[in-house]
Amino acid sequence: MNHISIAIDGPSGAGKSTLARLLAQELRYIYVDTGAMYRAVGLHVARAGIDSRDRAGIIGQLPDIVIELRYENGVQQIYLNGENVSRAIRTEEASRYASDVSAIPEVRAFLLGMQRALAENADVIMDGRDIGTVVLPQAAIKIFLTASSEERARRRYEELLEKGEDVAYNDVLRHLIERDKNDSARAAAPLRPAEDAVILDTTGNTLEQSLDVLRAVIKEKSNHVV
Ligand code: DC
Repeated sequence: MNHISIAIDGPSGAGKSTLARLLAQELRYIYVDTGAMYRAVGLHVARAGIDSRDRAGIIGQLPDIVIELRYENGVQQIYLNGENVSRAIRTEEASRYASDVSAIPEVRAFLLGMQRALAENADVIMDGRDIGTVVLPQAAIKIFLTASSEERARRRYEELLEKGEDVAYNDVLRHLIERDKNDSARAAAPLRPAEDAVILDTTGNTLEQSLDVLRAVIKEKSNHVV
């Protein structure tokens, strides 16, 4: 049976995961957060005491890594070698490791099969950086979500403050710009919109406004594909 895939790509802080999760609930699709997979690889490597720039060391760890996505009460949980690491992957260190390991082609190849298999077995909304370009180039609907760096940094800053972390807005902005550069400038599957992606800028939108725009795009596009 053919399943429908919706690809949502874009830089961090554009609102991809929140929007994708809510839309998946509405549509009764499976939500797949591919960033969580890169974060889990990053976490494993960090725990193994390997430097995030040590390519050979990181590639050498891949045979020891088993990543699973499980859905508990409809919420995606990510397991690393049997341990639920859904919270542990959200630290600033895990973010930095994820960005570095994601530039390594062997790491991308390691996760690609698993990402494609998920889309073969269910209707999915998958979010990441290269879903529309590399992972699911045949996806029925491709959306590239973006927002200004300042707005994305502000959202991230507020999230961190809510979690009780003591951070400065300027540092959050600087890190975000660095990671954007990392993700866009790398040779392997860089962040960029697919040619047939709908580009949506969420700067200045409330969550509800962005959701409405996305619902409209999906509705319009599904008339052609469903
Ligand atoms: O979406 P996120 O912030 O959780 O992603 C973590 C890192 O993984 C980010 O630096 C980009 C990278 N990533 C990627 O290269 N390709 C994907 N499909 C998803 C994430």
